[in-house]
Amino acid sequence: MNLPQEVRYRPYQEWTEDQFLQIKNKVAQSPWHANYHSEPQTGLLNDPNGFSYFDGKYHLFYQNWPYGAAHGLKQWVHMTSEDLVHFEESGTKLLPDHVNDAQGAYSGSAYAVDDKLFLFYTGNVRDQNWVRDPRQIGAYMTKDGQIEKCSQVLISQPEDVTEHFRDPQIFKYQEHFYAIVGAQNHEQKGFIKLYKAVANDVENWKFVADLDLGRQASEYMVECPNLVFVNEKPILIYSPQGLSKDELNYDNIYPNTYQIFDTFDPEKGQLIGDAPLQNLDFGFEAYATQAFNSPDGRALAVSWIGLPDVDYPTDDYDYQGALSLVKELTIKDGVLYQKPVSAMSNLQGQAQILEEKNTTTNSYHLQVTIPAQSQKELLLMADAYGNGFAIAADTVTGTLTLDRSKTKHGFAEAYGTKRSCQIPKEDVTLNIYVDQSIIEVFVNDGQAVLTSRYFPENGASAILMPKGKVDGHYYEMR
Ligand code: FRU
Repeated sequence: MNLPQEVRYRPYQEWTEDQFLQIKNKVAQSPWHANYHSEPQTGLLNDPNGFSYFDGKYHLFYQNWPYGAAHGLKQWVHMTSEDLVHFEESGTKLLPDHVNDAQGAYSGSAYAVDDKLFLFYTGNVRDQNWVRDPRQIGAYMTKDGQIEKCSQVLISQPEDVTEHFRDPQIFKYQEHFYAIVGAQNHEQKGFIKLYKAVANDVENWKFVADLDLGRQASEYMVECPNLVFVNEKPILIYSPQGLSKDELNYDNIYPNTYQIFDTFDPEKGQLIGDAPLQNLDFGFEAYATQAFNSPDGRALAVSWIGLPDVDYPTDDYDYQGALSLVKELTIKDGVLYQKPVSAMSNLQGQAQILEEKNTTTNSYHLQVTIPAQSQKELLLMADAYGNGFAIAADTVTGTLTLDRSKTKHGFAEAYGTKRSCQIPKEDVTLNIYVDQSIIEVFVNDGQAVLTSRYFPENGASAILMPKGKVDGHYYEMR
């Protein structure tokens, strides 16, 4: 939604209780609220931040501007979870209330340090001429949710970097703390800087190297880089803005990608191995995915279901954006798998045989099998006029296609109304999670993932099979 800069950057204390109440009332009227995905209480949700494990719980924050469906003065909103399925807001916020983050507490990460959670993030600071001075800064969150900000800047803008320098990810490797930060050079090319904490002091960082990703780097900026390890293999996940389609084909306005390397040499700052760039998600919207290695060794990821510069039908209700399910990352035969965490099954009701029907909820999980040599289609959230979100699986050509063209609430149509990816020309399983206006499709246990929004008319909740019976199970989601 387009709002004037002076509205988007109005200090939080200048918004009256009454104005905030009106926004809350508007949000409450939306017919599209998710049932088992996290959404903002008000305003815009974008990147997941600070995904971590601390004090016996998982912690996950999200970027938020609370006063409307636009990118304004950002804060972090804090949530906790015991099982990675139920997330609850705690009330704690990382506010843009310091000289080092005056125009926004931008994205970053978190790591438990002693008895506090250290938050490493970007302070968006702009002068009177709106010239940006990006600052990598820190804060600690205590066990009872108090925020204590470090007074000093931890990493300032290096000389070889433009104002686009942000989204530090802190991680531990061989007992040392490292951080990677997304950057743009003066030739307008995106890259990633690697730092190491001196004597493991998270307030003292020394530059190691610019990461060599072994590719031509056609993007103009790298946002939200994350390095995680699966079976000791480094997986780099990032959002390369402006990536040339000659390097990797993608359909969304901005891509979210990954590379799997063989090894990481932290001293030289090298990621080693032949690591082709790949799409992380083939749906209409998944961006700024954040991943971390939890203490139990799992690599866990969560994505923003949304994209920069896209308006959504919920904007009229003063909110936008949601977070994906938490996905566990594994590697099988050199391929990255992203699978919803196993605790998801706790939300499921009894298995029912899948058939064409009217659901009451648009809140369910479908587990279907597409046999080899077949063409099947599901039309979800369908109404009586043929509108609905279509998922077509073709194991003859080996293609899975999403089609959201049949709708009364179209959006972002300039980027196309179909998405597709390759699937094996064999029996294929699909796990499809539907939540009011969110659809996450997992092919063969996460070999490919397609994340999307679709906004049905109120009451449109049929599951149809236009090309004949699709075998599988239906589980209502609580
Ligand atoms: C990615 C991003 C980050 C930035 C944040 C601001 O969506 O642009 O690079 O830190 O959003 O909200």
